[in-house]
Amino acid sequence: MKLTGRVALVTGAGTGMGLEAAKQFTERGGRVLMVARQAERLRAEAERLPGAVALPCDISDADDVRRLLDAVVADHPELDTVLLNAGVTHTYRLFGHEDAYAHADEEMHVNYLSAVRLIHALVPIIEPRTEPALIVTTSGTAFAPDLTNPTYSATKAALHSLTQAVRLQLERNGSAVKVFEFMAPLVDSPFASGVISDQKVSPEAAVADLFAGLERDERELRVGGSEAVYQALRRSSDAAVRTLNAATGG
Ligand SMILES: NC(=O)c1ccc[n+]([C@@H]2O[C@H](COP(=O)([O-])OP(=O)(O)OC[C@H]3O[C@@H](n4cnc5c(N)ncnc54)[C@H](OP(=O)(O)O)[C@@H]3O)[C@@H](O)[C@H]2O)c1
Repeated sequence: MKLTGRVALVTGAGTGMGLEAAKQFTERGGRVLMVARQAERLRAEAERLPGAVALPCDISDADDVRRLLDAVVADHPELDTVLLNAGVTHTYRLFGHEDAYAHADEEMHVNYLSAVRLIHALVPIIEPRTEPALIVTTSGTAFAPDLTNPTYSATKAALHSLTQAVRLQLERNGSAVKVFEFMAPLVDSPFASGVISDQKVSPEAAVADLFAGLERDERELRVGGSEAVYQALRRSSDAAVRTLNAATGG
């Protein structure tokens, strides 16, 4: 896929891989609509990127999402790329003192249910453009649970399943939208601050691998440790869960 001159909506663009992806799109002559909750930080980052726009939004809030979609339709109808990258996790152990239900509830709303809503609303907007693309950030935890992020892991398994379903359905509909899944490696970002591991890579390195994979038109991008978990899964699901937890210390 051609990466120059994209008009891209990036969720989770305030920090980490989303911010890095926003920079990379901008460096290739694109314009980025940056989405995250913390408005002040988002606006400060957007001001540093030529043509970028900050659209503060909690993607798990229906009213916020409606306002976001209205702004996209009214002001940015040339949108051709969506990177659904925002995510939350709770790093904790099951059967400790934490409220596993409350954590899972938040993680499922932000990581999975918001993606269902955004994909349904945004795909028809990008569909008429030239080479439209939907990119979804998941993780090696789509293949096996991480004991240090036990309820988060299932949200990425759900998102992996959804991404596959969306890709096949759009293909059957004869849609031009290309659907990519970015199975990110362990990254040194605020998100993974609770995971102690010597296998973390920088957001810059992870996004460089993402962009290289997009250019190769590789639909399921298993970056870094995600490929090792996938290969282990081909042996057995037990091998996958052990491989993943050896990397995270779980
Ligand atoms: N770091 C890793 O090791 C790792 C590994 C595999 C996959 N991933 C995935 O990679 C993605 C990006 O994570 P990252 O590592 O770059 O972490 P990050 O720097 O913490 O980025 C997460 C972003 O999501 C935004 N966000 C969280 N909840 C939101 C909500 N309800 N509405 C809108 N925006 C929201 C955050 O901004 P606000 O707080 O301002 O909303 C932040 O910009 C996530 O989907 C994560 O699951 C991460």
